[in-house]
Amino acid sequence: MAPTGALLLGYLLGSIPFGVLLTRIGGAGDLRAIGSGNIGATNVLRTGRKGLAAATLLLDLLKGAAAVWIVDAIWPGHGVVAGAGAFLGHCYPVWLRFKGGKGVATMMGIVLALHPVSALAYAVVWLGLLGLIRISSVAGMVAAISAPVSAAAFGAFDVVLLFLALALIVLWKHRANIDRLMSGEEPRIGGDRG
Ligand code: G3P
Repeated sequence: MAPTGALLLGYLLGSIPFGVLLTRIGGAGDLRAIGSGNIGATNVLRTGRKGLAAATLLLDLLKGAAAVWIVDAIWPGHGVVAGAGAFLGHCYPVWLRFKGGKGVATMMGIVLALHPVSALAYAVVWLGLLGLIRISSVAGMVAAISAPVSAAAFGAFDVVLLFLALALIVLWKHRANIDRLMSGEEPRIGGDRG
């Protein structure tokens, strides 16, 4: 019961599409018809609504962390399963016909709840690269890869496999971005194409 409950509760929390909801409530239209069509904070930023983008980032991050914390409080020791569920919920939400986000913010929340030191490294890599090169996809993918590396370096072998699996899904979800990067068409934050 506990593992199934943890997975389901995690999935339900993770599947809340904050980007889509906030842009709609904020009167900024259907996020899936804007920019990259992604439901994450980077694409919310392309609506010109910085506040909504910041709120999306924070809530997408917090739902990942909350899934782990809540499940661990109900079924101690099942946070890893809840984290996996939350990530799948964000990337493949039933409410959006399984077309969800790319997982970067939600993964950071999960990492924060399961191994805070790796979350610190994640944030430094993510924000550092974002500031340096201003390409959200590259910063997000490298940050995601940093999580299993950092967890292994700190000997947190109970979470390394989960972090590795999440990082691989993050890469998979960015395949359109990778194509655009290869052809030099990936937009920079604040650039002409957002
Ligand atoms: O977290 C998503 C980001 O890495 C890329 O978003 O909208 O540029 O595809 P986007």
